[in-house]
Amino acid sequence: MQEFDSRALRDAFSGFSTGVTIITTLDSDSVPGAPPRPVAMTANSFSSVSMDPPLLLWSIDKRAQCFNAFKQARYFAAHVLHSGQQAVSNLCATRDADKFSDTPWHAGLSGIPILDEYHICFQCEIEHRYAGGDHQIIVGRVLSFDNRATARQTEPLVFYQGKYHEVAQVQSRVSG
Ligand SMILES: Cc1cc2nc3c(=O)[nH]c(=O)nc-3n(C[C@H](O)[C@H](O)[C@H](O)COP(=O)(O)O)c2cc1C
Repeated sequence: MQEFDSRALRDAFSGFSTGVTIITTLDSDSVPGAPPRPVAMTANSFSSVSMDPPLLLWSIDKRAQCFNAFKQARYFAAHVLHSGQQAVSNLCATRDADKFSDTPWHAGLSGIPILDEYHICFQCEIEHRYAGGDHQIIVGRVLSFDNRATARQTEPLVFYQGKYHEVAQVQSRVSG
């Protein structure tokens, strides 16, 4: 098998521009007897999969602190972020951060945390989990979604080459 320089491979993967999502669930097992704890992580591995049935996927690093919570979970919410949400993206990508004390949220299906602020939100039931090397691929069936993009005229947050961008910047570069 060919060995790759991991930095070069990371750079190559980061040349694929993506949106940014925050995936949330409830951790029922963190402290026995304690109420379920909301967990969140930033993920740009999100992708739509299927219209019928409605499926989407994302992948989680098995070393993430919240991995066990997602391993046990039945439901999750995927929030596609808008361009004003870099701070919460960074917060939810920080290990050991208190991700919910300053982030307004409310309970969604089966109590899963729904951020008050988002571009688009999908509430899902986990349908499949697949091995994906050092990650696990999670496929969710969309049970409900809320697309605020048109009504609020927000733009999605874009991630490309390890940095955040806005669609407006991309458009202005394309149009010269
Ligand atoms: C833009 C961006 C995208 C990310 N995408 C993923 C991803 O798809 N899967 C993943 O496991 N980690 C991803 N990460 C890293 C996690 O968000 C980060 O390691 C997080 O702290 C993991 O959760 P934990 O705090 O429970 O360990 C991403 C980070 C950033 C900034």
